[in-house]
Amino acid sequence: MDRIRIVGGRPLSGTIPISGAKNATLPLMIASLLTGETLVLDNVPRLADVGLLQRILGNHGVDVMVGGKRAGETADHGQTLHISAAHIVDTTAPYELVSKMRASFWVIAPLVARMGEARVSMPGGCAIGTRPVDLLIMAIERLGAKIDIEGGYVIAQAPHGLKGGEIVFPKVTVGGTHTAIMAAALANGTTVIENAAREPEIADVADCLNKMGARISGAGTSRIVVEGVARLGGARHNVLPDRIETGTYAMAVAMAGGDVLLQNARPELLQAALEVLQMAGAAVVSSNQGIRIARNGSALAPVEVTTAPFPAFPTDLQAQLMALMTRANGTSCIVETIFENRFMHVQELVRLGARIQLEGEKATIEGVERLQGAPVMATDLRASVSLVIAALAAEGETIVNRVYHLDRGFERLEDKLGRCGATIERLAG
Ligand code: EPU
Repeated sequence: MDRIRIVGGRPLSGTIPISGAKNATLPLMIASLLTGETLVLDNVPRLADVGLLQRILGNHGVDVMVGGKRAGETADHGQTLHISAAHIVDTTAPYELVSKMRASFWVIAPLVARMGEARVSMPGGCAIGTRPVDLLIMAIERLGAKIDIEGGYVIAQAPHGLKGGEIVFPKVTVGGTHTAIMAAALANGTTVIENAAREPEIADVADCLNKMGARISGAGTSRIVVEGVARLGGARHNVLPDRIETGTYAMAVAMAGGDVLLQNARPELLQAALEVLQMAGAAVVSSNQGIRIARNGSALAPVEVTTAPFPAFPTDLQAQLMALMTRANGTSCIVETIFENRFMHVQELVRLGARIQLEGEKATIEGVERLQGAPVMATDLRASVSLVIAALAAEGETIVNRVYHLDRGFERLEDKLGRCGATIERLAG
């Protein structure tokens, strides 16, 4: 298993290109199941999760072709995927695959909408909490699917197609909203989705579906209306930039000090996080090239933050902010309201010298003068990258183990940070 070695203490300066968003790419790839024609996705990040989803779709009979190199392109350009679900040969998504990536459960919606049936393994728990799928099942049931649960599989059937209906989510859910939109796109009649998630990735997927011929309005607001159509066609779509990768590198710069342009980043995708960074003492300047983040010499100020659905501060940046606050000049408080168990990074940050108290969903972080490098590991993607951020400011050497978590969601992390002056390398093994 690869590891990453970091020696802290170097400021960052230069440019970091921001990749396409993982959490838009995954549902966009899944949306390809809705059509027999080719969906072309540009700006797709090179991530382990994208490769895994390719395998999962392949099992349903989907062909995914990765576009070759083009003149003038560098590794900073995203990939182009040509995805064709002309013939769906299998409507089962097996446990061995779904258990490796929760988002693959979402295939249930396009499969039942287009094929009239789907048999998808329940994903099970994961490192950040129990993460049930009851609301996803409720959404397709509201559109007329008959649901059975048998041997750990959810079996959805709608032999005569889905019918438009009203879906009211009792809790904001990103996966529930994606599922509802995809199912409703091919349903007979109109669907209204209330209390929908407003994450930018929802609007990005809806944009793509509309290019494919869907009739979706209101995506990006909490009320989405979908007029079902009989069939969808092909389209070409450019994946929006990754706001979590943007926020992560912004926090890395705030931690290490320096001045970095986050190229292609879009400030409106992470306004809440940028405000928190400014309160903490970082300078944030947006331009048509991206977002520039700088901190030169000033101390970090403590902050109080509660995670909540978009447009509030995202849970996917909670661990990174906590790492940053370990070095603040005072006591910070972070409340996690989305996932009940998303504090796996706390004990590892403590190993680097952080002072953090946990009480239910609230973490109190007392800033310290110095962190010290140590071997660490984490059990999820965002927790792992928070350890990288802490290591950038720690004295001496930190070895981050289990790098495969990072590879699920960060493209060439060591290369992007290394080019800005960090002492960071991947140790193969
Ligand atoms: N929930 C239910 N029942 C459901 C579905 C969700 O109770 O049927 C609960 C969850 O347990 C959680 C809350 O609702 O407490 C919100 O979960 P949501 O459904 O929004 O999360 P998700 O769709 O499973 C996506 C992202 C996550 C991100 C969350 C929240 C993707 C592929 N995943 O997950 O990203 O944390 O939304 O914004 O889009 C990550 O990238 O590291 C990651 C975990």
